[in-house]
Amino acid sequence: MNMKFSEKAEQLDAGIFAVLNEKKNELVKQGRTIYNLSVGTPDFPPMPHIMEAVSEAAKRPENYKYALSELPELLDAVQSFYQKRFGVQLEADEIMTMYGSQEGMAHIAWALCNPGELVLVPNPGYQIFSAGPRLCDAEVWEYPLLEEHQFLPQLDEIPEEIARRARYMVVSYPANPICRTAPESFYRDLIAFAKKYEIIILHDNAYSDIIYDGRRGGSFLEYEGAKEVGIEFYSLSKSFNYTGARLSFAVGNRAVIQKFKALRTQFDYGIFLPVQYGAIAALTGPFDGVKEQCRNYEERNRALCAVSAGMFRIARGQCSYGRRYRRATRILRTFVWS
Ligand SMILES: Cc1ncc(COP(=O)(O)O)c(C=O)c1O
Repeated sequence: MNMKFSEKAEQLDAGIFAVLNEKKNELVKQGRTIYNLSVGTPDFPPMPHIMEAVSEAAKRPENYKYALSELPELLDAVQSFYQKRFGVQLEADEIMTMYGSQEGMAHIAWALCNPGELVLVPNPGYQIFSAGPRLCDAEVWEYPLLEEHQFLPQLDEIPEEIARRARYMVVSYPANPICRTAPESFYRDLIAFAKKYEIIILHDNAYSDIIYDGRRGGSFLEYEGAKEVGIEFYSLSKSFNYTGARLSFAVGNRAVIQKFKALRTQFDYGIFLPVQYGAIAALTGPFDGVKEQCRNYEERNRALCAVSAGMFRIARGQCSYGRRYRRATRILRTFVWS
């Protein structure tokens, strides 16, 4: 039979990470050693108390029904986590869960924009920021993140007609893939910009717990007026290595959260209850593992930078293969997996 597909499906290729994974598997089958720097699946285990909470809950038959919504204990856990971690007060109806920020970023476009409307996304930026709007036929306008501007959007250089047409803007610091944070003054300017042009801000906060040099990872919602203009996605994937369990939450502007929730109830019956229990364990602590892991990432980061700088210097004949370089490559080998 000649299968006919929608125009949209015909335009879509498999997501970039699925393509890279297939390529990786092919090469591994050929016996090649692969250094996988594609999708950032953490190689640290989840903390034991989180796994225990999931497995205990998985033994109870009542946890296999449709969850339909968030457990009240999970909403409490998110509230107290945001209060303690960021000093941000949230009401229960300002919180919702989803199957990871990836899924949330993809689907929220359906709640926020119509075909032909405009969405502002960073370039370079994480691919789902633009894939989401494109899936619902919105137009994407990429704002550049350049070194000469400390990798921050130049809000006053966004053309007036673009700003007026924009429905929402995706912002994400600490930023993937450029590993930069944004200063407080930026968030204040962003909120003023959002108010002036009535643009909803989506802040993707996937990496606030992986931050180096003693700096503190914050939340967009800490800034005055943030809740009036937008929401934040917080993922348990990187902070708690809960990656495959697929649980993130969006918090902030009540109207946006409620509209997005209503949209998701069309296709979602709620997150598997044992996964919700694991998330409660993650968010209520202890958090020593999160800090320890951040230190480990920082050490790897230093090793990676030392090796790249060392290679560069060796290539230019400025130094020979030394002890520090050997140590750095040893650390690197411990986390590069195939
Ligand atoms: C910036 C950014 N946002 C979101 C995600 C996806 O997170 P989740 O596992 O919550 O879907 C990633 C994953 O690498 C990411 O780098």
